[in-house]
Amino acid sequence: AKKAVLGPLVGAVDQGTSSTRFLVFNSKTAELLSHHQVEIKQEFPREGWVEQDPKEILQSVYECIEKTCEKLGQLNIDISNIKAIGVSNQRETTVVWDKLTGEPLYNAVVWLDLRTQSTVENLYKRIPGNNNFVKSKTGLPLSTYFSAVKLRWLLDNVRKVQKAVEENRALFGTIDSWLIWSLTGGVNGGVHCTDVTNASRTMLFNIHSLEWDKELCEFFGIPMEILPNVRSSSEIYGLMKISHSLKAGALEGVPISGCLGDQSAALVGQMCFQDGQAKNTYGTGCFLLCNTGHKCVFSEHGLLTTVAYKLGRDKPVYYALEGSVAIAGAVIRWLRDNLGIIKSSEEIEKLAKEVGTSYGCYFVPAFSGLYAPYWEPSARGIICGLTQFTNKCHIAFAALEAVCFQTREILDAMNRDCGIPLSHLQVDGGMTSNKILMQLQADILYIPVVKPSMPETTALGAAMAAGAAEGVGVWSLEPEDLSAVTMERFEPQINAEESEIRYSTWKKAVMKSMGWVT
Ligand code: G3P
Repeated sequence: AKKAVLGPLVGAVDQGTSSTRFLVFNSKTAELLSHHQVEIKQEFPREGWVEQDPKEILQSVYECIEKTCEKLGQLNIDISNIKAIGVSNQRETTVVWDKLTGEPLYNAVVWLDLRTQSTVENLYKRIPGNNNFVKSKTGLPLSTYFSAVKLRWLLDNVRKVQKAVEENRALFGTIDSWLIWSLTGGVNGGVHCTDVTNASRTMLFNIHSLEWDKELCEFFGIPMEILPNVRSSSEIYGLMKISHSLKAGALEGVPISGCLGDQSAALVGQMCFQDGQAKNTYGTGCFLLCNTGHKCVFSEHGLLTTVAYKLGRDKPVYYALEGSVAIAGAVIRWLRDNLGIIKSSEEIEKLAKEVGTSYGCYFVPAFSGLYAPYWEPSARGIICGLTQFTNKCHIAFAALEAVCFQTREILDAMNRDCGIPLSHLQVDGGMTSNKILMQLQADILYIPVVKPSMPETTALGAAMAAGAAEGVGVWSLEPEDLSAVTMERFEPQINAEESEIRYSTWKKAVMKSMGWVT
């Protein structure tokens, strides 16, 4: 059959905590042409520990590329039209591997992992009260969330890592670095790099000078020679070279030219390029980012200051304020895998719809402590307000409400920091296909919630960055190019008083979740 003629295409790897995707977009219309998704395993070797296998992650990327290319073939779309590839990824998750063998030296320590709680407490004691240089340089609170302490743990506890560092064989990276190094040839000349957005989540990166920070590396005891080169979010890092996976090798020679942490990628994909524009992405966790332009705004209400993007070597850097919630989609996965009250994540909507209320039940899913705005590692999950009447449908409803209440908390913090309240919330991510969740969100925030018809904005942002890179130039970042994206709007339907009562009861439940671990 004759292959259909199309404009240049751009592929994007979206490597999230729960799943990996490869998606291919038409650069002229931003239309999603084909994609494939593979779920990723999480291991919990001890209470509070969360690990993933870096090789499984890499394999899932190959599989998604292969399957997507197959699907494109079935649509008569010639894959040689793919002109660039972008990478977006779960941030902070830490990998150390051997540059001579390409073997990871330990599992990836996932961002949610709590094993470094005591390391964090000890480090805190070394920060002078009147000069929190970690915060002022990185924009981040000292927390188990970020890579530096995970890397410190690997250096302290894993003999293979120590030995590889001594023998100058060790490379550190977040998932973007691990993937780009592997996809550009691995042991045969793989490029060891990261972008400014991912670097800004390590707690080793100075967000003002945009460089690894010597003082921070000394403070955390990190050898600087194992760190990747920091590049912009949109430039050619290297060419695809994956000869050992034959089918994925179909993209051999295509430039990898976009790289953004997934939350930054979603900000770009939602076209939040102006100061004050914000988006909330519902993935494993939930992350509200507000573009603050070229200014680093420091929060007084528990938000992070982070690099939003830098779309080209010579382009200016943009910053964002971020409200991070650790557990959003993960609570649905927990109901499926740990309680078994649903068989697939989609079933949650049906259960919640059956009752349409939590019947006074509140679920605080503080599985990894509480992130913004509390930063309370000692919190643990609770379900409260149970009666004999409570059933699994109420718990399902309470789980969805929890995602919305947590978003309300970070939105309130954002409004206080920014001074101008958001008039509506732009949302995206897998969970936004759940209509009950979206309506609840509008009710609990008491502002309209606006979602694009194509929820894969994270991948879209990475594709845009890749397609717009110098030397690729197939994507223009002008809004009129996004003609394929239409919006759906959810208006608040309950009254403001009811919304406030529910929210204040949630706050009581949050207080009860704190202080479980001392
Ligand atoms: O900071 C962690 C974040 O990047 C994870 O994103 O999409 O896996 O929830 P996600």
